Amino acid sequence: MRRHSFSFLLLSPLLTSSHGANLFVSHYSGTVYTLTLSNNSDGAYSLTLNTSLYIGGQPSWLTWDSSTRTLYIPDETEYFGTPNAWSVAAATNGALSLTGKATAIGGGVANTLYGNHQYLATAHYDLSQITTFKLPLTSSSTPLQKIALNMTGPGTVPNRQNAAHPHEVLLDPTGAFLLVPDLGADQIRIYQIGSTGLLTACPSYFELGGTGPRHGAFSANGSILYVANELSNSVHTFGMAYNNSRITLKKLQSLTTFPKNATAPTGTKVAEVHVKDNFIYAANRNDLSFSPSDSIASFSLNSVGLMAFMNITSSGGWHPRTFDINKAGDMIAIGDQTSANVAIVKRNITTGELGPQLASLRVSTVGTA
Ligand SMILES: *[C@@H]1O[C@H](CO)[C@@H](O)[C@H](O)[C@H]1NC(C)=O
Ligand SMILES: *[C@@H]1O[C@H](CO)[C@@H](O)[C@H](O)[C@H]1NC(C)=O
Ligand SMILES: *[C@@H]1O[C@H](CO)[C@@H](O)[C@H](O)[C@H]1NC(C)=O
Ligand SMILES: *[C@@H]1O[C@H](CO)[C@@H](O)[C@H](O)[C@H]1NC(C)=O
Ligand SMILES: *[C@@H]1O[C@H](CO)[C@@H](O)[C@H](O)[C@H]1NC(C)=O
Ligand SMILES: *[C@@H]1O[C@H](CO)[C@@H](O)[C@H](O)[C@H]1NC(C)=O
Ligand SMILES: *[C@@H]1O[C@H](CO)[C@@H](O)[C@H](O)[C@H]1NC(C)=O
Ligand SMILES: *[C@@H]1O[C@H](CO)[C@@H](O)[C@H](O)[C@H]1NC(C)=O
Repeated sequence: MRRHSFSFLLLSPLLTSSHGANLFVSHYSGTVYTLTLSNNSDGAYSLTLNTSLYIGGQPSWLTWDSSTRTLYIPDETEYFGTPNAWSVAAATNGALSLTGKATAIGGGVANTLYGNHQYLATAHYDLSQITTFKLPLTSSSTPLQKIALNMTGPGTVPNRQNAAHPHEVLLDPTGAFLLVPDLGADQIRIYQIGSTGLLTACPSYFELGGTGPRHGAFSANGSILYVANELSNSVHTFGMAYNNSRITLKKLQSLTTFPKNATAPTGTKVAEVHVKDNFIYAANRNDLSFSPSDSIASFSLNSVGLMAFMNITSSGGWHPRTFDINKAGDMIAIGDQTSANVAIVKRNITTGELGPQLASLRVSTVGTA
């Protein structure tokens, strides 16, 4: 599926503090922005545009490295093998400036640092690859490794599972493995990280056909993995068992992202999942539960990490592709792709409940469904 047929995207990976915070946002039209969230004297919040940097392509994701104050951004533009797209670094010190732009294949949808911030891994969704780079990135950097992902024939949902489609690269809590939810192949691929940054494939976890694993998150102490599934619109809970060269996943639970474990409305596509303390949140794109807005599903986590559905609340826009929770835990920033806005929503740190919305800002042009 050519996902760039809907071309607008927002990401908000960072709220540095609860008052006077800065956020980074990218939009599929090629620009990265910084926004400032201010707390006014009357108690109201406002979100304003601070700076912007046009980098071109389709900046699909932001990884923030606070130690070097660098953003790592993959390009989702698809050139089908022609190495025109990039993995880019844009540094910030208030303002954004480009510090390196390395060439890679396109279709990049997510990246992560690994190996003590020495390496960068990127998932190339449409081109069924994982690439890695040694940092720092420069214009002459070439991939350290390119891993082609295969599958035998189309999956249960043929129009989405025509090929392997890695959607995220996730560093495990020990730092020794990368996990890759593969939406096309219904697998959670697992790689062991070598001392020179090279990845070695371990046996995958195989999901039920038509699950479509997309994004993952770990419990606070790192012992439980949660995976959001785009095709089955559910979240799966896994226990993780380690031995010296393997992670073995054991599925403990499957819940949809709707009340009473109901099936999602037709057209819903679950996106990201994030854990904060004893709560977990998953984004429902295009469920229109709060029409014209979509929803965020909230679950509480019990002492052994199992989820209990709490509620759905408004995502403050259409197609919440990304969201992030600030360190204090009292706010969540939602990147609503199609409506092209960032919504800031209050979060109760005790009950985990979301709402009401505190601020919203449209960034660049509104998209179409
Ligand atoms: C605004 O910020 C101040 C601290 O700077 C804080 O004490 C106050 O609670 C904030 N107001 C609201 C409504 O959050
Ligand atoms: C823009 O961000 C910088 C760096 O965080 C900050 O110092 C400045 O106050 C911000 N400007 C506005 C207008 O918010
Ligand atoms: C996928 O197929 C390509 C081409 O046949 C091969 O070079 C590559 O090793 C395969 N990758 C995996 C992970 O099996
Ligand atoms: C480690 O895990 C692998 C894969 O599950 C298994 O084959 C192997 O027996 C395990 N080794 C030990 C020592 O448990
Ligand atoms: C919830 O629904 C999913 C998907 O239909 C199913 O796999 C799972 O077993 C259900 N869970 C419970 C607790 O009923
Ligand atoms: C880590 O948390 C999980 C629940 O999320 C719990 O089951 C497990 O016992 C905890 N492990 C340790 C070592 O505290
Ligand atoms: C669930 O969310 C709705 C809509 O945001 C809200 O009105 C309601 O109070 C919430 N209920 C619970 C139990 O959190
Ligand atoms: C969080 O929820 C609790 C229970 O409803 C309430 O007592 C408390 O005031 C809420 N905190 C905030 C900051 O709204």
